[in-house]
Amino acid sequence: MLPQEGLFHSPGAFSGVAVLRLNPQAHRQLREVVSALHAELGAAEGLYTVLGLQPALLPGAPAISTLLPREGPTARFPSTQSHVLVQVSAGERELLLWSLRRVLALSKAVLTLQEEVLGGLIREGRDAFGFRDGLSAPTREQVQRNAVVSSGPLAGASWLLYLRFQQDLERFGRLKPQAQERVVGRTRDGERVVDAPAEAHIHRARASGAGENQFLIRRGFPFRQGGEEGMAFVAASADPDYYQRSLDALLGVGGQTPDALLRYVTPVGGGLYLAPPRDWFHATPPSQEALS
Ligand code: HEM
Repeated sequence: MLPQEGLFHSPGAFSGVAVLRLNPQAHRQLREVVSALHAELGAAEGLYTVLGLQPALLPGAPAISTLLPREGPTARFPSTQSHVLVQVSAGERELLLWSLRRVLALSKAVLTLQEEVLGGLIREGRDAFGFRDGLSAPTREQVQRNAVVSSGPLAGASWLLYLRFQQDLERFGRLKPQAQERVVGRTRDGERVVDAPAEAHIHRARASGAGENQFLIRRGFPFRQGGEEGMAFVAASADPDYYQRSLDALLGVGGQTPDALLRYVTPVGGGLYLAPPRDWFHATPPSQEALS
């Protein structure tokens, strides 16, 4: 089963996430509508789309209800789990806007918009604090190996984690440049800080086993919206257990050191979604919902 093509493309200059809630009594039309979305957006040249569903909507999927909300001694990842997540990215803003308009137009009988975040690259790829992020773009092979389920009933699918973070630019800005770099564990331009403390973000991120493009493929983007700046963090993984481990490592669960970054960024929502393989869309009538 082939994975969705959008997974192989990191977010471009303009990126967006739409989170949609299923209308009451609309369950039977869901597959038809997301298949129409997948077909239309997938055919648009220069647009990359990843479409995920709440795992419980795909009966072939294991029930994973324990990932969010998640709490550590100093921070909490809340859940704003919904039913459908669409991530779109494009080289041009016009195409991004067109795609988000089409998402709403095609799905309005069945889905209601819960959240929409628009953003995109800052310079060559920096987060809202001005640090280089996404230093090495994943290869197709890394995405296939780390983000796509290789066998079994979910073969070709990908687990998506969406987290929206607010970043406190004022608070982070009060730190001296060197102290900022010790929070991240890298210089603003991406060099490793050799003596960074154990609480530095890259050390905490690596504590779960994840490294650059290992176990999870990061596909988030910075945004500014309604006066709020932050990161729409999206990741794709072949195994949702890595998310549990990653979030626990950042939170400092079980006596670990919490991530210093969480003093300056606040998770305000998120959810776990499953991106079915390409063939799932249109494959069978809506009544046959299993992935295989
Ligand atoms: C507002 C939230 C976040 C910000 C601003 C942020 C920022 C950064 C920055 C600047 C880097 C270094 C550059 C790079 O390696 O690409 C980095 C690396 C990384 N981050 Fe985050 N991050 C955030 C959330 C997360 C979350 C929630 C996870 C995991 C669930 C995560 C996992 C990683 C990983 C695995 C690395 C690579 C570490 C390495 O091997 O060097 N990040 N992040």
